[in-house]
Amino acid sequence: MADLVSHPDEVRVVSKRFGKGATSIDRYLELDGYKAVQKALGMEPDAIVNEVKNSGLRGRGGAGFNTGMKWSFVPKQSAKPKYVLCNGDESEPGTCKDRLIFEQDPHSVIEGVMIAGLAVGSQTGYIYIRGEYRYLSEIMQKAIADAYARKFLGKNIFGSGRDFEIYWHGGAGAYEVGEESALMESLEGKRGIPRIRPPFPAVVGLWGGPTVINNAETLASVPHIILGGSEWYANLGPAKNGGTRLFCLSGHLERPGVYELPMGYNLKKMIYDVGGGIPEGRKLKAVLPGGSSTPVLAADEVDVSMDFDSLAKAGSMLGSGGVVILDETACMVKFALRIMKFYRHESCGWCIPCREGTDWLEKTLIRFHAGGGLKKDIDNIQYLSENMLGRTFCPLGDAAAMPTISIVKKFRHEFEDHLDGRPCPFEKARAAEPVLA
Ligand SMILES: Cc1cc2nc3c(=O)[nH]c(=O)nc-3n(C[C@H](O)[C@H](O)[C@H](O)COP(=O)(O)O)c2cc1C
Ligand code: SF4
Repeated sequence: MADLVSHPDEVRVVSKRFGKGATSIDRYLELDGYKAVQKALGMEPDAIVNEVKNSGLRGRGGAGFNTGMKWSFVPKQSAKPKYVLCNGDESEPGTCKDRLIFEQDPHSVIEGVMIAGLAVGSQTGYIYIRGEYRYLSEIMQKAIADAYARKFLGKNIFGSGRDFEIYWHGGAGAYEVGEESALMESLEGKRGIPRIRPPFPAVVGLWGGPTVINNAETLASVPHIILGGSEWYANLGPAKNGGTRLFCLSGHLERPGVYELPMGYNLKKMIYDVGGGIPEGRKLKAVLPGGSSTPVLAADEVDVSMDFDSLAKAGSMLGSGGVVILDETACMVKFALRIMKFYRHESCGWCIPCREGTDWLEKTLIRFHAGGGLKKDIDNIQYLSENMLGRTFCPLGDAAAMPTISIVKKFRHEFEDHLDGRPCPFEKARAAEPVLA
């Protein structure tokens, strides 16, 4: 079980049942559980879609697309069955929030999937959980079984005459399978590589049927919107960025952890107040505001609202809510290398700019960090990354390129400090530190 953290500025919506034993279906019912789906059963599908659209809920998986709008793209009539997929693959480095939802409030995900199904006219949902979260799958599977036992799932749910089935599915540990079309390939039992789009999943998705795919936090937010109303939810955040967000604070911080804060919360306050600041009074160097795929912000750029639009204006992205803090002791060349190592390993290898680009970048960064760098390598790293941008089948290529480009641009001086056979200055400083017995 994860250690839960808290801060007075938190606004608990998705996390309101955390730590309250809501894995038990009885406790979940005591805490307003399954009320939202019963309310939704009495609503017209379009009314559900509009409620979610007006709430300003935007996808918590990374891209930040308006959820209700996405649901509205699903055709009303379809010869093939429609599906709702919950994306619980959560593999973005720095991101660990869906894990808490599965662990602490699994029924909220079930309820969110059911409401999405009612909105788009689907009778089947899948909850896809990252392979490394196998222990959470047990919690999720039990929650599904308990919901079936109470006849909340299956035939004639809540005596409404409607049917809804939910299946759990475990991944096998591939980051790429978090990409929505690769996830559908994986669910169909194939190798998890992406599909060429269009057609988009809303029209041709799982087994060729219209499909809604949403992140677990997105879906877990939906029951609260149905019960609390779109206006209440929208007003929690700035315009077009409704609600709250589970921010995963990690790195050089006194109090790392997952905190639920209103959308638009100030990043500087998040670091120094919520996260308790940087240990031993060290200085901030950089922040990845939304997981490893997002461009880094330098220390003088952190006075920014944490919402999709403000971060885009600041040249970065809100992404998956994984906020990684780096202090002055971090080597940005090593950080770029660590990120590239991940993407090189996770590239599915289908398209050349990503497969070769991540490999060359990793090799160059390894040599560079070890002191074998040439001046022209710095421009080459940037050039290679820029040539991956927008030239790959799926956004994994962009995800590898964007942080790298920003690190070279904003921390070029650190690359220069590694030139001419000089070893990494940060490792040299660390080696000189006295070893405590
Ligand atoms: C390489 C890659 C990995 C991704 N991994 C995840 C993931 O682990 N979880 C997730 O919800 N979305 C992930 N996404 C985003 C999904 O493709 C998709 O946009 C998301 O599930 C849509 O849900 P949302 O609208 O609720 O955010 C990933 C995208 C890419 C390109
Ligand atoms: S960008 Fe990378 S992960 Fe995506 S399809 Fe191409 S090779 Fe595969």
